[in-house]
Amino acid sequence: MAENLTIIILAAGKGTRMGGEEAKVLRNSFSGPLLQEVMKSAAGLNPKKILIVTGFQAEEVERRARGFLETICNNAVHRNSEKRFSGSIEFCRQIEQRGTGDAVKATIPALSGFSGEVLILCGDAPVILPSSLRSLIANHRQENATVSLLTAHHSEPGSYGRILRNPDTGELTGIREARDASTEELQIQEVNSGVYVVDSAFLPGALSQLEPDNAQGEFYLTDIVGQAIQEGQRVVSSSCSSDELTGVNSHADLNVVNAIQQRRVREEVSAQGVSFLQPDSVSIHPMAVFGAGVHIGPSVVIGENVQIGENVTIEGMSYITDATIEDGATIKWGSRIDGAMVGSGSSVGPFAHLRPGSHLGTNVKIGNFVEVKKSTLGDEAKASHLSYLGDARIGAGANIGAGTITCNYDGYTKSTTVVGDGAFIGSNSSLVAPVEIGHGATVGAGSTITKPVAADALAVTRAEQRELAGWSKKKREKNAPKK
Ligand code: UD1
Ligand code: CA
Repeated sequence: MAENLTIIILAAGKGTRMGGEEAKVLRNSFSGPLLQEVMKSAAGLNPKKILIVTGFQAEEVERRARGFLETICNNAVHRNSEKRFSGSIEFCRQIEQRGTGDAVKATIPALSGFSGEVLILCGDAPVILPSSLRSLIANHRQENATVSLLTAHHSEPGSYGRILRNPDTGELTGIREARDASTEELQIQEVNSGVYVVDSAFLPGALSQLEPDNAQGEFYLTDIVGQAIQEGQRVVSSSCSSDELTGVNSHADLNVVNAIQQRRVREEVSAQGVSFLQPDSVSIHPMAVFGAGVHIGPSVVIGENVQIGENVTIEGMSYITDATIEDGATIKWGSRIDGAMVGSGSSVGPFAHLRPGSHLGTNVKIGNFVEVKKSTLGDEAKASHLSYLGDARIGAGANIGAGTITCNYDGYTKSTTVVGDGAFIGSNSSLVAPVEIGHGATVGAGSTITKPVAADALAVTRAEQRELAGWSKKKREKNAPKK
């Protein structure tokens, strides 16, 4: 544990610019709620304490934050997350939301007796990398600074606070909020991330001197920087990438955050041997696990709880969630897999739908326009075209002909269909459940099977074919005058 580090997360604001009823820090980003992501970065530094400032919807934010901590400590957030946070979390209520400086003031009682470094994070900035936080802290120590801030160069500095420097020496002189800045200051591209390290001894005095003499009539935390400089304290800055400081004030910002989070996951899995045809079109849940040699085509979504083995190919335009796909399987274009298991070497699609409870053995083939629900297919079984298999147990090596339907529902209850190993079901057959087809049996094409079929037997239910010689010709001749 970092004995001398306390982290403050500012999470009391409503997020007026986002609209809606929910507190902004509880909004979902791709990787999870904003506050959870910030807590994850904070916990990664293993501070002694994390103080979360709450205000708007305080009870709800605190309840959710406790849940986030549990998730983080259970390693349930990210496949690479480390279970290392051993400090405590505490909530500090900010009664009225009067600005970021006022929010930090709410932590003063909880900081009493603590002597060391205070890292301040914004609950709405979820993509700051732990590595940037670590180097900010390391630099603060090395420089023996009182206040350190994390800044970045941004080509579109927008509403971020501008970093003011002495034009001759380059030394920091303060931070100006965009709304208080002159036209000239607005041109500055170095912006404030809202992340600071402050010496705990300096903080209470500095906060008590803040005045709300600015465009928003708020107590700005940013003003402590100018104050420290005026007092002759050492103030330094570290830099991070412009991506990392993205704070979510609007839906457009949230889109930027989502894109950054998704890109990071893709980069990570690429490093583990996953290749992409159009990376930007692919979205992967942070907990998804991949073997080496996986290839992913365009427009693929990999959702929660997915494990993909080695050398799996996902051609493209597929949605895969809550699924295990074993080594060497191929998921062809346009398939949806939800709550299913695909055995090694199996092939699914194009345009197939595996629904919850589907379990494919080794080298199974599920072809185009086949839907499988709560069914098991044994090794080497095939359903190559246009079928519905629901509540079925299909034996190894069985062949399910095109258009075969398991009639598993009579309007009241679901019933099971069993097809034995090596059975052959002719095309366009209806298997009316509950029903069992024995091992090696054959069902003639177009049959409606309502009774059990013995092993190795042939069952056919269609009417026998009749042929009337010359019938068509006679009909044509008879009807010719009507044309
Ligand atoms: C703040 C900085 C700005 C910086 C930007 C980085 C100030 C005055 N400005 O601006 O320089 O570039 O972050 O993202 O600090 N909050 C409270 N209580 C309040 C007000 C805010 O807890 O009374 C919390 C919010 O919930 C949010 C965080 O503080 O998580 C930042 O507040 P926000 O209003 O978003 O500040 P910005 O305008 O983005
Ligand atoms: Ca913000």
